[in-house]
Amino acid sequence: MIDVNKIREDFPMFKNYKTAEGKPIVYLDNAATTFKPYSVISAIEDYYMKETANAHRGDYELAHNVDVHYESARETVKRFINAERKEEICFTSGTSMSINVIAYGLEHLLNSGDEIILSEAEHASNVLPWFGVAKKKGCIIKYAPIDEKLGIVTPKGLESVISKKTKVVSLAQVTNVLGGMNDSKALAKVCHAYNALFVLDGAQSVPHVKVDVLDLDCDFLAFSAHKMCGPTGIGVLYGKYELLDQMPPLLSGGGMNTRFETCGNILLQRPPLKFEAGTQNIAGAYGLKAAIEYLEKIGMNNIEEYENMLHERLISGLKKLDNVVIYNPYSTTGIVTFNIKDVFAQDAATYFSSKGIAVRSGQHCAKILMDYLKTSATVRASTYFYNTIEDIDKLIECAKDGGNFLDAYFS
Ligand SMILES: Cc1ncc(COP(=O)(O)O)c(C=O)c1O
Repeated sequence: MIDVNKIREDFPMFKNYKTAEGKPIVYLDNAATTFKPYSVISAIEDYYMKETANAHRGDYELAHNVDVHYESARETVKRFINAERKEEICFTSGTSMSINVIAYGLEHLLNSGDEIILSEAEHASNVLPWFGVAKKKGCIIKYAPIDEKLGIVTPKGLESVISKKTKVVSLAQVTNVLGGMNDSKALAKVCHAYNALFVLDGAQSVPHVKVDVLDLDCDFLAFSAHKMCGPTGIGVLYGKYELLDQMPPLLSGGGMNTRFETCGNILLQRPPLKFEAGTQNIAGAYGLKAAIEYLEKIGMNNIEEYENMLHERLISGLKKLDNVVIYNPYSTTGIVTFNIKDVFAQDAATYFSSKGIAVRSGQHCAKILMDYLKTSATVRASTYFYNTIEDIDKLIECAKDGGNFLDAYFS
């Protein structure tokens, strides 16, 4: 079980940041980024204060220690997502970078007329790289239908658009606005029945639930450390080893080759180093390892259970309010997207902010979804395991104030 008051002591932001009212912030923008516990901050500090050297380049003891720590971060990620081999874990700068590496890395498998399937609920990071590759190779982008009630792509929905021409299906396990959790294992089966590769954007799922790549049988998984208590600037690209081995890297430079010659011949490293050109975010890897260890100590099952409880309270509270339109009433994760009737989303967010509550407003980088939702912007509240029941109740209480939303500008 989660002892939230104890957990909050691990996060300096709750102590150090005070709202205009002098209170700790009600932070409900966790889908954008999360707060970091002391253990993550001190792991990063350790790299800079006690163990600074480049990785994979030095032959002295200090550099060796850094190599060991950096590779142990890889091992930690491997264990966390249950990959078969640690060579399947490549460090990138985040989900966006990972999906770019995958999309442009698969370019050599794509021909004119081949299909790439996405959904209209995807984040820009899981749309634009595919647009780029499709344009270059003459591929067709198709959109799997979103189940109207659940807000997810179902296996049946995917079956309605997939064909023998489909080479790649790329979907978020949890999308960042509709927040539903899809059945990725069943979706992978549909993809594989058509010999299509299944790319999973795990940015909003890996931080919140246990994700097991072997069990899901996804071909690739991308996620970011900063959404799971880790530092910004580091993320993960997981790929099945044979696929990574065949894929050309997006970036070239030091560390990703074993030799190159004046005539232009380049002998590449094997994965994962092939995908880690240049000096990596070594401090970030220390921080990501600490973040995973922190989450594992709490337990992913406990995190999921606790977040479910917060979600139920939030959704049932908002449902009771006549002045609130909820866009994902059936979602099962901590993302709740809504609008206050007749109030522009940014005005609502400003009002919440005036009450010490941080929520996100706008299009959330899912711009094509706004046509689907038939609105120009929404408010998104997203929880994490350090949120309290009081945080949720405060949001609901403020949402009731419908008529006063413009007061934020005048108080
Ligand atoms: C579903 C989803 N995919 C991808 C991203 C991009 O993540 P990053 O900005 O860490 O690269 C986000 C970020 O919000 C996201 O929510």
